[in-house]
Parts: sequence; C-alpha cells; structure tokens
Amino acid sequence: MGSTPEPATGVLEPKTDMQLVWLPGDGVGPEVAAEAEQVLEQCAAAGGWRVHFDRDLIGGAAIDALGTPLAEETLERARAADAVFKGPVGGPRWDHLRGPQRCEAGLLRLRQGLEVYANLRPTIVTPQLAACSPVRPEVLGEGVDLLIVRELTGGAYFGQPKGLVGDRAVDTMAYSAAEVERLARVGFEAALLRRRHVTSVDKANVLESSRLWRDVVSEVARDYPDVRLEHQLVDSCAMLLITHPTRFDVIVTENLFGDILSDEAGVLAGSLGVLPSASLGHPGRPGLYEPVHGAAPDIAGQGAANPIASILTIALMLRHSLGRPEQAAAVEGAVADALAAGLRTRDIAVRGETAVGTAAMGEAVRAALARRLRTAQAGRC
Ligand code: IPM
Ligand code: MG
Repeated sequence: MGSTPEPATGVLEPKTDMQLVWLPGDGVGPEVAAEAEQVLEQCAAAGGWRVHFDRDLIGGAAIDALGTPLAEETLERARAADAVFKGPVGGPRWDHLRGPQRCEAGLLRLRQGLEVYANLRPTIVTPQLAACSPVRPEVLGEGVDLLIVRELTGGAYFGQPKGLVGDRAVDTMAYSAAEVERLARVGFEAALLRRRHVTSVDKANVLESSRLWRDVVSEVARDYPDVRLEHQLVDSCAMLLITHPTRFDVIVTENLFGDILSDEAGVLAGSLGVLPSASLGHPGRPGLYEPVHGAAPDIAGQGAANPIASILTIALMLRHSLGRPEQAAAVEGAVADALAAGLRTRDIAVRGETAVGTAAMGEAVRAALARRLRTAQAGRC
C-alpha cells in the first residue's frame, strides 16, 4: 500500500514524572476514579516514580461549572499530558441539551482533539466471572478473551454533513482509505501479540463505506501473512458474539458498530462494570483511558459502583502510555485475586453472594496488588 503509518502502540520509555489530566466525569465517575487514582499512586510508590494529577472537568460537571462540556483549556492541557483518564459522562439533568451542548459532545471533542483513532476494548471472561454471565457456561468454555479495536474518530459520529434540516435529520457515515488502513494496522499488530486472528466487521452487503473498509483491510492483511483474516457482517457478528464468543480474538470495526458490539461483549462478562478501554493515536502523544460503562446516575453517590473497569483502565494506561507493562500485569492479576477471593460488587454478585461497595472492592484489589508488587520486587533482588 502507499503509506504505511506507524501503528499506534503508544508504548514509551518509562519516565520518572508522569503528568496526567484527570477527568472523573459524572454520576459514579468520581467514586470509581478515586479507587483508580489510589491504584496508580500505589504503583508509583512501589516503582519509585511520581504521578501528578491535573484535575479537571468534563461532561455535566463542566457544563455546570463552565457552561461547556469540554473547555478548550482542558483539551490543551490534555494534549500536553502523558495520558488522560476520563470517567463516564451524562445524566438526566443534562438530557434536554442538544447538539454541541450535550455532555457526550465534550467526550467526542476530546477524542477528536487528541486524535485517538484506535479504541482498544478487551473483554476477558474469567472462570470467576462466568457465574454472573447470562450466557451459559458451556458457551463461555475455557474462557473468552477478545479485543475489540474500534475506530474512534470517524464514521457516523463525525461525518459531514450532519444536522437537522427542516424535518430531515442527517448523519454521514464516511471513511477514507487512510483512516481504515491505520486502524486495521493497530488490529493486526495487536493480533501478532495474541492468537493471530483478525475478524473485520462491516456491512459490506449494503454500505459503500463498508465495501471500502473490506477492501482496505484485505490489502493491509497482505503485510501480515501470519495473521488469519476473516470478514463478518455486523448483524451476523452480533449473533456469533453470543453463540460462539470463544471463536474471536481481535475484532476490528468502525465507530458505531464498535460502540454497539462492545456493549454486547460486556454482556459476556456479566457487567460493563469490569470492562476497561484505551484510546490511542499517534506514537508519543497522550492516550485517553476510559472505563466502558456509563455514569449510572441511579446508583451515583451510593458507593455501590464497580471500580474494576476503572482499575483495569489504569492497567492499560500503565502498559500503553506509562511504559510499565510489569505493573500493568500486576494490577490485572490483583483484580483476578480479589475476584478469586470472592469479592463482588452488586453488578457482578449472583444469588446468595454478599455484595461489597466501591471502596471495599478497591481496597481488596490494592491489598492484592501490594502482595504482587512485593513479589515482583523480591524477584528482581
Ligand atoms: C462509549 C459511549 C460513548 C460512545 C457515548 C457516551 C458518546 O457509549 O464510549 O461507548 O458512543 O462512544
Ligand atoms: Mg458505548
């Protein structure tokens, strides 16, 4: 192919001072972000590096305080950071707002402004979580381990023209070959480190943008002869995700399809409360780290939300932006330890299990993390 843009792995040399822009968001956001923050502090203390939190507002909190869902200064600071953490945004109080005034517009502007075009959404269903999945254990088999690589700065979310003209509303789903190519490369690179299988998801039997998508992904695949590529139509993929979830390794797909399929993948895990995400763009630029779940205004302020998605999001940040892959693995291991010890928040508790709150789950993960970090340290002596 013509240009071969560098894939957005975002892996950097570890620095000793990390500048983070920290956007807890709305609803349960501040509660889960507080647990994630302590995990990061713990890693910094154990690893002998420093982390600085530049706290700012996004979504409804920003609308209330600043009259806009994302201030330009916030975006500028985010561009200059090593990484950005963002909690969920939105809530009924701001639901009447339209277009660029909406909470979600702040988030979309942040993704666009940081040019984080590749959104990595891993779904891992461990044996401990299988019990709270509505999908039968024999379908989940030995465990589900899939990675959705969702295009994040194009498609119907951003395509022009867009808007309301009289009694007609228009959204444009448009992609250039270059946008598809750079996203596909992220997917293939990820597959090389996994089970070497890419499923490209489109709607090429109907949509022109999907036909281009399929052609470009097929062409990129020639550069990756060791990776098996299959194409799936999005409707049939939606079905296979539930009936045969273990057949998937890496799924590459456009923005809107990825949004929908990643919530569906959350069903496999039993709750969106355990799904992290990393949004990456150009090498050396800050990544954006967001739990996949929403602001859950119905349980906000109760200390009941699951902090695991935010804590696992920190693991992705350690791996992809902070150059600390061993600590990332320790955080992921600590979450598995806490689940194995039987801790469950309300969203993942099944009949007969007592649910703990946000802080207790966070504490359990940090206690397990302390043990893992000590062992890792001892291993190096
Ligand atoms: C997500 C969310 C967002 C999206 C919303 C809040 C704009 O659903 O991150 O999946 O559609 O991308
Ligand atoms: Mg979504």
